[in-house]
Amino acid sequence: MACRIPVSPPNPPQPPPTAPVPAPDAVERQAHWEQVYATRAVDAVSWFEPEAAQSFSLIQTLAPPPAAAVIDIGGGASVLVDRLLDAGYLHPTVLDIADGALAASRRRLGERASRATWVCGDVLDAALPPAAYDLWHDRAVFHFLTTPAQRLRYRRQLEHALRPDGYLVIACFAPDGPSRCSGLPVVRYSAATLGAELGPCFMPLQETQVLHTTPAGATQHFLYMSFRYRAT
Ligand SMILES: C[S@@+](CC[C@H](N)C(=O)[O-])C[C@H]1O[C@@H](n2cnc3c(N)ncnc32)[C@H](O)[C@@H]1O
Repeated sequence: MACRIPVSPPNPPQPPPTAPVPAPDAVERQAHWEQVYATRAVDAVSWFEPEAAQSFSLIQTLAPPPAAAVIDIGGGASVLVDRLLDAGYLHPTVLDIADGALAASRRRLGERASRATWVCGDVLDAALPPAAYDLWHDRAVFHFLTTPAQRLRYRRQLEHALRPDGYLVIACFAPDGPSRCSGLPVVRYSAATLGAELGPCFMPLQETQVLHTTPAGATQHFLYMSFRYRAT
């Protein structure tokens, strides 16, 4: 079973490279999220959780050793990186499109921030090292990808950067979750539709629904799943 996304045939010779111009959707995405973190307190946004309990619990269940390379995609100002450091993880990486979010986490961590790697970039086109991560975590980022082209780019990045046999821990809004978040439309997933979207290389391990209470007191159903990456 071939489950890697086919690579396109080589392009014909191209003119010399110029500075990369981000696609407009990337510029808009970044502006949106920078604005959010510039204008809202990190503990007032709807996705805020004082502890990243479910994510951390799933990571612990998979039990990658402390030397494992864990990346938190769209980590925002989540305290997951704090818990990873507390648990002895040596090389956690946090990637987010909004530098304001990463700066908030670095401020919170103080001196400990230097023990993590901080990448400000769009997961869809960030230059990630190949097969570098043992575990890829994403809470509430993938569900913002509303077009097949965006989801394909995400999967290409995931399959490029996750090492074979590595783990994916992902949380999206469940079918009865909200249809929007932070003013943006989202795609809601069941275990079946998320598994289908990720493709046969991702072997489902665990799934659970979590009722998240926002700082404003609303409730939101999240689907959390973990997968093992079976590259061919
Ligand atoms: C709903 S928040 C979730 C934050 C964090 N994962 C948590 O659970 O607290 C979505 C986060 O993803 C980031 N984000 C959105 N689109 C992104 C993209 N294409 N690449 C990287 N980060 C992105 C946002 O800046 C924001 O911090």
